[in-house]
Formats: sequence, structure tokens, C-alpha cells
Amino acid sequence: MSETEKAKALLNNVLETRRHSSCPFSPELEQMFYGHCLSVAYISEKIASAARNLNPEKSYILGLLHDAGRIKDEKNEGTFHGLTGFDYLIKNNMPDAARIAFTHCFYEPRLNLSMYRMKPQDYVRSRELLKTMSFNDYDYLVQLADILNDCGRQCTIEYRFDSVAKRHNLNNEIVSASVRRLNELKSYFDEKCNCDIYDLLEIDQKISV
Ligand SMILES: [Fe+2]
Repeated sequence: MSETEKAKALLNNVLETRRHSSCPFSPELEQMFYGHCLSVAYISEKIASAARNLNPEKSYILGLLHDAGRIKDEKNEGTFHGLTGFDYLIKNNMPDAARIAFTHCFYEPRLNLSMYRMKPQDYVRSRELLKTMSFNDYDYLVQLADILNDCGRQCTIEYRFDSVAKRHNLNNEIVSASVRRLNELKSYFDEKCNCDIYDLLEIDQKISV
């Protein structure tokens, strides 16, 4: 089995396990979640193909599995998907994907640590795990790709945060710090790809929430 096939099988297992858990997705949410994973995989691969130093197949796999932590329902089961995904993928012998399942949550580490409502022991574990890591281009790539779509539809950073802020009642400080940091990441990859990432992905910059 190739690494890509293994990643697809693991994502199917995430869906199947969640479906039979005490907190399953509704059919609509499952569809949206699956669409989101495919979209992040596609965006990661597309940017990696245009950049100079990233492996497109590896990027696709990392994007596909970045939200494997959704195997549990964060809200109802009191888990943090960054750690759940990390543990799930370590157990399945996918250390690079495990790392991304954790790091994609921390595009702005200090802000993100306080933003997620995680249990005290998960907070401490996340803080300590972050100290052991220095982010690389794959971490940055999936952090950005995760934001360039909303429920599976490709969009700008600003659109994504408008939509998320409305859904989750985020305060302005979080939204503006997040948008600022993600635009820095976008500029980083614009330069690497020698083009505007929005043009590369054919993202309509005029649509608003
Ligand atoms: Fe995601």
C-alpha cells in the first residue's frame, strides 16, 4: 500500500469510527468535514507543486490527515483535536502527519493556546509539546491551507475568518491577529511560488460572507 493509500484508509477510519461513536457527525457535517480534508489536501499539494522545496505527494497526505483528531467530538468529549490527531497518527505510525495534526492548530502559538478551550492537562501538554518543535515549511503550508477554505469551499483568509468569527463568536482581537499572521504566511508562499497563491488556486477575492 502506498503512503497516499494508507492516508486515505486512515481518514476513512476516522469517519467510520466517528460514525459509530456516541457523538457522530450529522450527515451534512460529515460531508462538510470530508470536503474540508480533501480541499486542504488539494491546496497543500498545489502550493507544494509550485514551490521549490516541498514534496507534493507528502503535502497532499499531510493536508488530508491534518484534522484526524476529529475522530472525537472536541466539544462533547472534552478533547483537543490537535492532541487527539497527534496520538492517533503516532499510533498508526505516521509521525510526520501526527506532527501536522498538532501544529496546524498553532499558526500563532500564544494566541491559539489561549483560544482553544482545552482541559488544563491538555493545555500543559500542548505547551510542552510546542516547546519541542520549531516549525518547518510543511507546518506553515498546512496552517495556511487549512484556512484557505471554508467548509470545503476555497476562499480568502479574510472570508474564512469572517465566517468562523460569525459561527464561533470570536472577538476582534483574535480575528485581526489571526488574519495578520496568516497573511504573513501567504506572502511567504507567494514568494516561494513566485505568484499570488490566490491566483494559483483561482480563489475569487470578491466574495464576502
Ligand atoms: Fe482543518
